[in-house]
Amino acid sequence: MAEQPAIPDEPPAVLGPRLIGRSAELDRAVRALTAATPAAVLIEGEADIGKTRLIQEALETLALDGVLVAGCLPFREALTLGPVVDAVRQAHSRVDGLGLSALAGALRPLFPEWAHVLPPAPEPLDDAGAARSAAR
Ligand SMILES: Nc1ncnc2c1ncn2[C@@H]1O[C@H](COP(=O)(O)OP(=O)(O)OP(=O)(O)O)[C@@H](O)[C@H]1O
Ligand SMILES: [Mg+2]
Repeated sequence: MAEQPAIPDEPPAVLGPRLIGRSAELDRAVRALTAATPAAVLIEGEADIGKTRLIQEALETLALDGVLVAGCLPFREALTLGPVVDAVRQAHSRVDGLGLSALAGALRPLFPEWAHVLPPAPEPLDDAGAARSAAR
């Protein structure tokens, strides 16, 4: 009886098509991520236009540490600071030791899982202008 060919442990690697027609956008993203840190880069575009691919290519080009990627999904009702919260949550499973100021107590409602290490929540201010000034 003929011997059966061995079944490979890993499936063969499939290479995607190379990046086409996005060199200007890739350059801009790479420059924005390296010009100054910390930096925030927003990639916007219609569904399937290549946003995720552009981010992947930029990060591979740079091999940077400490980059946080979060999706800004088009919810009917926007989640205030949602993408920022998602991104920060990836970075710190624990926040003690970061040397946060008393102002970080305002983050308690956004990060309930960090309540035991965040400072107490600041007293609410009635005057919106004064609240903005206190947050500066
Ligand atoms: N410039 C490009 N050259 C070659 N392939 C591309 C390019 N841009 C995107 N693609 C490919 O097209 C597909 C869709 O791209 P991608 O997932 O990046 O889109 P997206 O904008 O992030 O989509 P979504 O809105 O669903 O998040 C992927 O397979 C990706 O590799
Ligand atoms: Mg995407």
